[in-house]
Amino acid sequence: MTDPAVALEKITKTFPVPFQRRVIVALRDVSLRVSTGEIYGLLGPNGSGKSTTLKIILGLVSPTRGQVQIFGHDAASAQSRANVGFLPESPYFPKYLTAAEMLSFYGKLCGMRRRELAKRVDELLELVGLTAARDRRLGTFSKGMLQRIGLAQAVINEPEMVVLDEPTAGVDPAGTRVIRDLILELKRRGVTILLSSHLLGQVQEICDRIGILANGALVRDGRVDELLIAPDQTELVLEHASPQLVDRISKAAAEGGASVIRAAPRHRSLEQVFLEATTEK
Ligand SMILES: Nc1ncnc2c1ncn2[C@@H]1O[C@H](COP(=O)(O)OP(=O)(O)OP(=O)(O)O)[C@@H](O)[C@H]1O
Ligand SMILES: [Mg+2]
Repeated sequence: MTDPAVALEKITKTFPVPFQRRVIVALRDVSLRVSTGEIYGLLGPNGSGKSTTLKIILGLVSPTRGQVQIFGHDAASAQSRANVGFLPESPYFPKYLTAAEMLSFYGKLCGMRRRELAKRVDELLELVGLTAARDRRLGTFSKGMLQRIGLAQAVINEPEMVVLDEPTAGVDPAGTRVIRDLILELKRRGVTILLSSHLLGQVQEICDRIGILANGALVRDGRVDELLIAPDQTELVLEHASPQLVDRISKAAAEGGASVIRAAPRHRSLEQVFLEATTEK
């Protein structure tokens, strides 16, 4: 059997509070697995430990207790990071570099050769839709463009896994869609994706599995479709149903020992309404 992309085993992380004899417990006994090729989403309120979990996986923060393995290697070893790309929360990139220069810079840091790198930079700019902006300085980029170039940076050396800390933070719905499509394209190419987000709708749409953190503890973990099932309920969506028909269905349900708990016009998501209104010709 192949090793999982990520295996966290009973991770606890505490941070000492300076000049006080107490600690902040950022993570408590967190165990989770990310299988290769899947999109795993980490959810949780502010301060629940998402970024700390991601940093521990990347070996940037060492756990107080517990084990972390990345593709079978200990997260403390440099080897574990060789095939992992990272887009940090609120990334900072040098303002005076152009998009193409920034990608080349990160590619060189990864030890890529000049010819291979030039090709990869063009390919990535195309992938993230920034070919026309390749020679613009990053200082002039919008938040959405910065997140996209950040994503390109994270995959410059064709990693097996990318870790994205809030990849759509501050990005408008259309830009968010572009990033979502990019993430799905990476998955199609076989990349394992681990992301954190506050956009529940988007996470629900693209993630295979999710984990929910609350106060440093993993309170839910599982397949999205399974977590979303309301036990013992069935949804029936009707078109052109008259009130009389709804009434007859309710009666039939009652005869069968069931009850209709809601019969109302079906709502669309705000995202659908927003996108329809803002892309109207
Ligand atoms: N370097 C640090 N030193 C001290 N405390 C820290 C440090 N890093 C994180 N913490 C604390 O650990 C807890 C978890 O923080 P973390 O940044 O992981 O949360 P988060 O879920 O990513 O939140 P957000 O949604 O705001 O990004 C918080 O209480 C935070 O204050
Ligand atoms: Mg965070």
